[in-house]
Amino acid sequence: MELSRRTFSALAGTTALGFALSGSGGETTRAYASHSVPTGPAPGAPAADRARHTVGFDGYSLLVDGRRLVLWSGEMHPFRLPSPSLWRDVLQKMRAHGFNAVSVYVAWNYHSPGPGQYDFTGVRDLDLFLRTATETGLYVILRPGPYINAEVDGGGFPGWLTATAGRARTSDPTYLSYVDEWLTAVNAIAARHLFTRGRGTVLLYQIENEYDAFVDEPLGQDYMSHLYKKVRADGIDVPLFHNDKGRNGYWAPGSFNTGGEEHGWLYGFDGYPDPGEVPPDWGHFGEGGIKGGATASPRTPGFIPEFGGGWFDSWGGATFDGKGYAEARYSRDAAYERRFQLTNLANGITVHNVYMTFGGTSWGWLPAPQVYTSYDYGAAIDEARRQTPKLAPTHQLGHLLRTVPDFAKLDRADPVRAADERLKVYHLTNPDTGSHVYVVRNDTDAPITTTIPDAGIDVAFTVAAHDARLFTANLQLGGRTLKFATAQPMMCLKVGRLDVAVFTAPHGEMAQVLLQCPEEPLVTRGDAEPAWNYDLGVLRITTPIGVGGLARVRIEGGGTGGDTPLLLIFADDPGALRLFPFDTPTGTVLVYGPSLLREARLDGVTAHLTGDTVEGTGLEVWGPRGLGQITWNGRPLRTSITPMGSLRAEMPAVPGQLPIPAVGEVRLPALDGWRSRTENFEVLPDYDDSGWTPADRTGSYSLTPVPKGGPVLFADDYGFHYGDVWYRGRLTDAADLESVSLTYSTGTQGLLMAWLDGEPLGTHRMPVPDKSTVRKGSWTATATFDTPPPTGQSPRVLSVLVRRMAHDMDGRSADSHKAARGLTGVSFKGGSPKARWRIQGETAPDPVRGPLNNGGLYGERKGWHLPGFAEEHWEPAELPRADRRQGVTWYRTTFRLAVDADIDASVGLVLDDDPKRAYRVQIFLNGWNMGQYINDVGPQHTFVLPNGILRTRGTNTLALAVLSDGTTESGPGDVRLRLLGTSAGGVPVAPVPAPGR
Ligand code: GAL
Repeated sequence: MELSRRTFSALAGTTALGFALSGSGGETTRAYASHSVPTGPAPGAPAADRARHTVGFDGYSLLVDGRRLVLWSGEMHPFRLPSPSLWRDVLQKMRAHGFNAVSVYVAWNYHSPGPGQYDFTGVRDLDLFLRTATETGLYVILRPGPYINAEVDGGGFPGWLTATAGRARTSDPTYLSYVDEWLTAVNAIAARHLFTRGRGTVLLYQIENEYDAFVDEPLGQDYMSHLYKKVRADGIDVPLFHNDKGRNGYWAPGSFNTGGEEHGWLYGFDGYPDPGEVPPDWGHFGEGGIKGGATASPRTPGFIPEFGGGWFDSWGGATFDGKGYAEARYSRDAAYERRFQLTNLANGITVHNVYMTFGGTSWGWLPAPQVYTSYDYGAAIDEARRQTPKLAPTHQLGHLLRTVPDFAKLDRADPVRAADERLKVYHLTNPDTGSHVYVVRNDTDAPITTTIPDAGIDVAFTVAAHDARLFTANLQLGGRTLKFATAQPMMCLKVGRLDVAVFTAPHGEMAQVLLQCPEEPLVTRGDAEPAWNYDLGVLRITTPIGVGGLARVRIEGGGTGGDTPLLLIFADDPGALRLFPFDTPTGTVLVYGPSLLREARLDGVTAHLTGDTVEGTGLEVWGPRGLGQITWNGRPLRTSITPMGSLRAEMPAVPGQLPIPAVGEVRLPALDGWRSRTENFEVLPDYDDSGWTPADRTGSYSLTPVPKGGPVLFADDYGFHYGDVWYRGRLTDAADLESVSLTYSTGTQGLLMAWLDGEPLGTHRMPVPDKSTVRKGSWTATATFDTPPPTGQSPRVLSVLVRRMAHDMDGRSADSHKAARGLTGVSFKGGSPKARWRIQGETAPDPVRGPLNNGGLYGERKGWHLPGFAEEHWEPAELPRADRRQGVTWYRTTFRLAVDADIDASVGLVLDDDPKRAYRVQIFLNGWNMGQYINDVGPQHTFVLPNGILRTRGTNTLALAVLSDGTTESGPGDVRLRLLGTSAGGVPVAPVPAPGR
């Protein structure tokens, strides 16, 4: 079909263009349909309903089947949670707390151990993740790169790509041939989950990330066009977009060749403002200009594919003064999120993704040089999967945007001022409904109490320092009209025969809601606090917020609303976080009380609810007419009917009496019964390295120059891409040798250790790079060791171990992931010995745990990290240790857990020691590399052990590979399990396979 190019005016009318690819498979017929846009409710939770859907947009919002949708998304990375059952846990938490979409990067390196090899099984099962998102009712924003960044090794580029020709992130044909392989593999799965086909919920798809090189040159233009066309050719028919770093206006529609498909392309940009910043106006209503954000693309909705939901921390705790992610969560707290997110909304942003909402763990060798194992990010859901108070703003705003359609189409309205002009007020209006929205922001250091007389808001309210609030006026609440409220609307639902409107305000504040009522209504209250009066057609309800929990008021009659009563519910932040709406095929239920509602199913008069509790709680449920019974996690509850139209039940915290367990019931064992063994036999002169790879190449695709005369010692050139790498050099004519200089390159916190004829020469730690060295894209240092006199050993054997840490990311499209890792040059003083080198890194990738699980330590090559390895011949060992030795020592033990099946216990491993001790530990749980602890660098001491890999009902094998510098005594010191969180409920967790030896 011929493409029809229509012009339509942004921010203007009721016509917009739907985009959908018709046909199936790789067929590329596209249809653009013109719709008139109804102002009805946003589409409900998406499902794989086998029906065709259109995904279009105009300047205001996305249009799904012609209906406006505000996409309120949170980011999580399946590759940072290596236990597929737990994906459902996180997704359900996101859905319950107001998100209607999840955004995911797909990391090429995670799925590809080698060219032509793509693995989407087990913890890499993208199909399962997308299915789970669909089952949870979340839309998906899929972001497979090929370059992603995300603080992963090489920015997501596979290790093997570092040893290939062709400039990455350009139209270089060799690079593109690899890219096509990856996209073919990932798109084959994505195409099975497209929302347009009713087969899943993939709604948007990103190509590249923060690509700002060669914007006006063929290298970049052709690259982006190639990606666009490739993705289309693979049958992906949803709108595509790019994430522009910092609002440059790059890759806006029309800026590159999309084969004439102007309407399949969105403009998006990201923002990670500093907590000290005044929130910028970077949406449609902003100042414009090059840094104006959405103004670069007035015909597409304001779209922030990444808004900072926290920030990452670096080795040594460099970002947060050593205080770690608790500080990230503190400095970017609920008020930070509220203030910026409301500003985004006030600027016309209607496609919004919070990066990260669950950060997770950069396990194994995933972390980029910038970060350590934990990628908690200070996100709203923490690494241990606990919900934090930071969820409050998104919970309230997400449910509002989902249930009140007015927010999908807002125009700027006449400027209004607060009586106290230090407050910034944004005034918006929905041109179709006439509702008004006020975002009121306080950029000062003190709370401000004021009114907005210009808007008729003559009741005082307070905006806390560095916070913001959202008020509405003339808003339809079911059958009634809100005049205005000094509380923020959180949702408006039809539940059974009630209209329900929820309002939130800070704890303790006196809130007012004014309703237009031509006649005096009948008002009843469910709680002692609310008061009201009726005057001149206005019902004024006044209530303190959060005192004694929720405040409930029921309004009947009043000359509007027909015979549908309106229930008003008032909550503070903690109360709102325990209020969960859930749409079922036979009606909506609203649940108050538990810490989480996962699912609700209606069956006749019974509501079957599943969810989590962390303490004894009351449960209150509103639902369809006739609802009479409740089960919670499969157990019937005794209920009573309330005058507020709900059912109430108690779920007491009596030990042993489920559904509420006592938190103290989870007991973690002490870790003892250790056995230990030293390794690094590679340093022995007569060690048999005949199976190692001769390092004799003379050319490389690396960015790092090959030393004159060679040989190439770069590990990647020999197929060793992750973790530790060993070198053995046989030196002849070395009798007069005085010293050896080893130049090497690693990511942050890399190190090098050397031995000559079995004797340690010393350890060299890579200096922490400053900004100038980072910019060069390569961190290189030279270690010079004096050599002891010859022992008669001939040839002399120089053994070198390099801990490489990570490849650089390629943020500047300069091939920086190709900066060499490992030894890069060797020189000698005294004589001129000849050297013949062999190299050994990781063995074939673990088929289950993947290419990033292991490096090349002796123990790793021999499976010392795996369950079932016969350690009984190892030495019994007591912790703490105080040994002094250069090299690697392993410790192993097993422990049993017996956590009740219906308790979700989140468990961490804690390592602690005197911070002067120079050693580091790789933590293997059941053979899975759960990360790296660097005792004298930190800041991370607690390592989250994801259930599934952790057998919560069974035996676990813990193996610690300790690499000590030899300059101090070395631990491990204190090693213990720690309970990070417990709740009754959780999701069923399948054991993650952990093949042993
Ligand atoms: C963004 C980038 C993400 C991630 C983030 C910081 O600029 O797109 O991939 O690196 O910064 O965590």
